[in-house]
Order: sequence, then structure tokens, then C-alpha cells
Amino acid sequence: MKKDFISIADFSREEIEELLDLSSFVKKNIGKKEYTPLQGKILGMLFEKTSTRTRLSFEAGMKRLGGDAIFLFSQHTQLSKGESWADTARVLSRYVDAIMIRTFEHKKILELAKYATVPVINGLSDLLHPCQILGDIFTIKEHFKTLDVKISYIGDGNNIANSWLLGAAVMGLNLHIATPLDFSPSGFVVQKSLQIAKKTKAKITLTDDPKQAVKDAQVIYTDVWTSMGREETPLRNEMFKPYQVNNELLSHASRDFIFMHCLPAHRGKEVTDEVIDSKHSIVWQQAENRTYVQAAILIKLLEENND
Ligand code: CP
Ligand code: NVA
Repeated sequence: MKKDFISIADFSREEIEELLDLSSFVKKNIGKKEYTPLQGKILGMLFEKTSTRTRLSFEAGMKRLGGDAIFLFSQHTQLSKGESWADTARVLSRYVDAIMIRTFEHKKILELAKYATVPVINGLSDLLHPCQILGDIFTIKEHFKTLDVKISYIGDGNNIANSWLLGAAVMGLNLHIATPLDFSPSGFVVQKSLQIAKKTKAKITLTDDPKQAVKDAQVIYTDVWTSMGREETPLRNEMFKPYQVNNELLSHASRDFIFMHCLPAHRGKEVTDEVIDSKHSIVWQQAENRTYVQAAILIKLLEENND
């Protein structure tokens, strides 16, 4: 049976640990002439929103590992003229070996996955961004050699915060999330994460106090205050001001903290230049690692699809 990657919770902790090991292997071997685990495979990439990293990391990864990728902007496909998601899924499955999709409503990804006969990967929806967080977990482990650290997410309770909740729950991590009360993560995702956390012993704390969340944390993570598809307003920016990641807030963090951001960053809003450009910032390494982790996801899903 084909397997998709729509949420981090689609994989068990053991499966994710295997994926992290495979990502390290990909990172070591990518670029070697004889290492072509995606030889002959084609990834279809369907975008309804803009992207820099997700498109490039998938496309470059496919090409460097022996495969290829085809970019489709939905406005240039028959979806824009009313062809259904189900029919689009059936047709794409006849041309490509896997589909990556970035869209607004999460249910469109579920619909695509239901009718596709090839693996479907969530490249971001309004609800989740699982490839990003799996890449970030890899980067944290690469840096600290352990995942036994305090991770603090500060800002909007958006797709990144939601995927952090699920990632932390499945992997048994120590996660603190600080958002304004009106911008909390999805209630459904919080409930699901707390349920999973009971089994994995993950420590998950939600608060509206950024100082409390940052206290003694080794990983400080933020994201834009206004995600793609949402409206940026002066009131919204005002409400998020206390959540800016700046040197004052970071004076409460552990001395060896790292700063992470999925990017793109809105410098001067959720993060200051002094932080994102500091020696604590590992945002470029974080962006690079997307390639290796997504390649590992593809290798695993395509192997399972061949079984
Ligand atoms: N982090 C991330 O997904 O970046 P893009 O929106 O550029 O793909
Ligand atoms: N939360 C952001 C993430 C971008 C990678 C957005 O959805 O726009």
C-alpha cells in the first residue's frame, strides 16, 4: 500500500529516527557519482502558493540524486479552470512517481492523497508544514548531538507551530510555545499532540509569556507573524510586538542557544538583524538540510510503494 507524508504523526518515532539516519547518509553521499537512490524517479510539484526553499530543495535534491522534478503552478493547470482535485490526482499519478503539494486548505491535500496512487508529500498547508519540522529536528540533532534540549517557539500559532507540536509529541521532545492568546495553535492539533505526548512522555507547554518560554532554552525558533494567505494589519503587528525575538528576550535563554527560523524572515518584525545574523543563528544550515531530509522521505516512500 502506498504511504503519504502529510503530517509528522504519519510516522512513528522509530520510523523518524530511521529517516534522520538516512538523512545523514544522504548528506554525506549526495554529489557522489555512484550515489543515485532516486535514479529514474520523477517528482511532480504542485504549488498554489509561492516558495523559494521548498521548491529548490526538492528539485535540486531530486536532480542531484539521479531523479528529476516537474514544477507546476496550479494557476497554469486545469485546476484553475475547475478540474477536480480527484481527477488531477488520478492523472498526475500516471506521469510521476510521487507528488509534492503546497496549498491553502489542508483538506485539498487529503483529497489529493485519497485519489493519487503514488505517494503524496505535504509541502505546506495552512495547517501543517511537516517537511520543515522534520528538517529542523535533523538540524537540532546535528548541532547538539542529542534531542534532549528545551525548544522554544515564539510567535504565531501557525502551520509551523502546529507541526512543531506534532513533531515534539511523536519524538518525545521538550517544547514550549509562546503565542498571543488570540493566535494560539490549532485546538485540534493541540489535543492530538497532548494525546500522543502521554505515550511518548513529550513535555509540551503552551503559554502567552515569551520570557517564560525562552527561559534556559537551547533552541529559539520563530516564524513570520503573518503567514501566506493571511492579512497583515497594523493591529496584528502591534499584538505580536512583545513576541519579537531580539537580544533582550534572548538574555533569558541558555548561553549555548541556537536561533532557528524556517524562513523567509521579516527582519525587524519577528526577529531583529542582530539575532538572525549572530553567531547563534543556524538558519542557513537549517535551510540547506531541507534537501537531505526530503530526499530521505522520498527514498522511504518510494521504497514502500515498490513493496
Ligand atoms: N521554509 C520554507 O518552506 O520556505 P519557502 O516558503 O521558501 O519554500
Ligand atoms: N508560516 C509560514 C511558513 C512559510 C514557510 C507561511 O505559511 O507563510
